[in-house]
Amino acid sequence: MILKPVVFKFNQMKKVRAKVKEPLFEFVNPKTEYVVQNADALEALDEIEDDKFDLIITSPPYNVGKAYETKTSIEKYLQTQEEIIEQLVRVLSTKGSLCWQVGNYVKNGEIFPLDIFYYQIFKKFGLRLRNRIIWHFGHGLHASKRFSGRYETILWFTKSDKYIFNLDDIRIPSKYPGKRHFKGPNKGKPSGNPLGKNPSDMWEVIRTDWENELWDIPNVKANHPEKTQHQCQFPIELVERCVLALTNKGSWVLDPFSGVGSAIIAAIKNERNAVGIEKEKEYCAMAKKRIDDLKEGRLRMRPIGKPIHTPSQNDKVAQIPKEWEQLPLIGRGK
Ligand SMILES: C[S@@+](CC[C@H](N)C(=O)[O-])C[C@H]1O[C@@H](n2cnc3c(N)ncnc32)[C@H](O)[C@@H]1O
Repeated sequence: MILKPVVFKFNQMKKVRAKVKEPLFEFVNPKTEYVVQNADALEALDEIEDDKFDLIITSPPYNVGKAYETKTSIEKYLQTQEEIIEQLVRVLSTKGSLCWQVGNYVKNGEIFPLDIFYYQIFKKFGLRLRNRIIWHFGHGLHASKRFSGRYETILWFTKSDKYIFNLDDIRIPSKYPGKRHFKGPNKGKPSGNPLGKNPSDMWEVIRTDWENELWDIPNVKANHPEKTQHQCQFPIELVERCVLALTNKGSWVLDPFSGVGSAIIAAIKNERNAVGIEKEKEYCAMAKKRIDDLKEGRLRMRPIGKPIHTPSQNDKVAQIPKEWEQLPLIGRGK
C-alpha cells in the first residue's frame, strides 16, 4: 500500500504545529474514496446498490427540537425512521454491522430512551444485537428534577452471524499483564493476551479508567479540539473504534445523518471508503472543509485513546470555593 505523505515545507509545518495542540497524523491513502451528499437520507438511499456497506454508523436526529429538526410525536418520528432503516438494512453487506447511537427523547420531563424504541424496529428487519454499548461522558446539563444524564447508548447490530470483528485492533492495555494461570495445563504461563484486553461494552477513556475497564470518549463540547457549529457532533474517536473493529481496509462506511462529517473522517483516516448523507447544506460544507483539513494535516482532533485530563487536587477547579468553606455541606464531614 502506498501512503502519500502530506507535503509541507518545514516553515509551513512549524506554523501549523504551533497552532494545533493535538498531534497531527500525516497520511491519508490517496486511493480512499468518499462522498458527502447533500440530500434527504431516504431519497439518497434509493440510489444506492444492495449490500454495499460493511458499516453503517450514525447518530440520527433525536426529535428533540434541535436547529436541524422539526419536533413531532414520537410515533410519527419513529415511523419516518423505520422507512429509512428498511433501506439501510438493504444496503448493509451480509458481513456488515450497524451502529445506532442515541440518547433520550424528553417530553414534559418524562424521558423515553430511544434505543428501547429502535430495538423493536431493527429486530423487525432481522438484525441481531451484539452489544448495547454505554457511552459514558463526564459532563453535561445538570438536572434538578431527576439524576443528571451522563450516558448514551450505541446499539451494535449485525446482519448475519458471519460478521467482521477485529478485536485485536481495538484492545486496550491489561490491568494486570503479569497475571499467570495458577492451575491446569497452562499453570505458570501468562493468563492474559499480550495485545491487551477486550475494551468491554462500557466506553470511557480517562487514564484512571483504563484500570476500571471504562472507555470514556469525551462528549464534543465547547473546549474540545474538534468542536464546530454543529450542536450534536460525534467525537471522531468514538467512530474510529467501530471502524477499526467492524470493517477492514477498503470497506465502505455509511453515515446517513452525517452532520459535519465525523464518521467520514474516522473512516478515511483509517483507509476505509465513506459516504455521508446530510440534508443541511451548511453542515455538508463544514464536513468538506474538515475533510480537506484532514488531508492537509490541519484538522484538530483528539487522538484515539488519548486519556482525558482529570484535575489534580492542586488545580484551582478542584478546590472548594472560599465562599463555601463555612457552609455545613453534606459529604464534607461538616
Ligand atoms: C445528531 S446529528 C449527526 C451529527 C453527526 N454525527 C456529526 O458528527 O456531525 C443528525 C444530523 O442529521 C441530519 N438530518 C436530519 N434528518 C435528515 C434526513 N432526513 N436526511 C439527511 N440528514 C438528516 C441533521 O441535519 C443533523 O445534522
